[in-house]
Amino acid sequence: MRVEFILNGRRVAVDVEPSETLLNTLRFKLRVKSVKRGCERGECGSCTILLDGQPVTSCMLLTLQVEGREVTTVEGLEKDDLFRKLVDYFIEEGAIQCGFCTPGILLTAWAGLKQGRFKSVDDVREHVANLCRCTGYVKIINAIYKAATGVAGR
Ligand code: FES
Ligand code: FES
Repeated sequence: MRVEFILNGRRVAVDVEPSETLLNTLRFKLRVKSVKRGCERGECGSCTILLDGQPVTSCMLLTLQVEGREVTTVEGLEKDDLFRKLVDYFIEEGAIQCGFCTPGILLTAWAGLKQGRFKSVDDVREHVANLCRCTGYVKIINAIYKAATGVAGR
């Protein structure tokens, strides 16, 4: 079946199986490697994308469900000022180790920042539920809070 949607501002058309997940279409057909395959059960968040601006786990979506909709990955935010600021704080705070979780966390955080959700460190902890196997979360939370407020969350 043919599906058309907007990927990072560009219209794409791709042939998919009815049971194919968006995660697999993005990684293996459209070669978007920033979208990571982790648990494939909607739990780890490493496959997070933005669907019409909202963070969702792409392993839990069928590609057929995104017909006509807007899908954004980190590649689509490279020129966005807020996104670049967020990445700078991740680097400054040392919030990236192996990097496997990073694209999904950046997208979740960016959406929360856009919506003005982060008034406290606890807001960040609550909103960003993505799993990370390396960092212990403190640096990630600090980087996001800093992007929201300009001050570290320690
Ligand atoms: S791979 Fe999708 S939530 Fe873990
Ligand atoms: S930096 Fe390695 S999983 Fe998060």
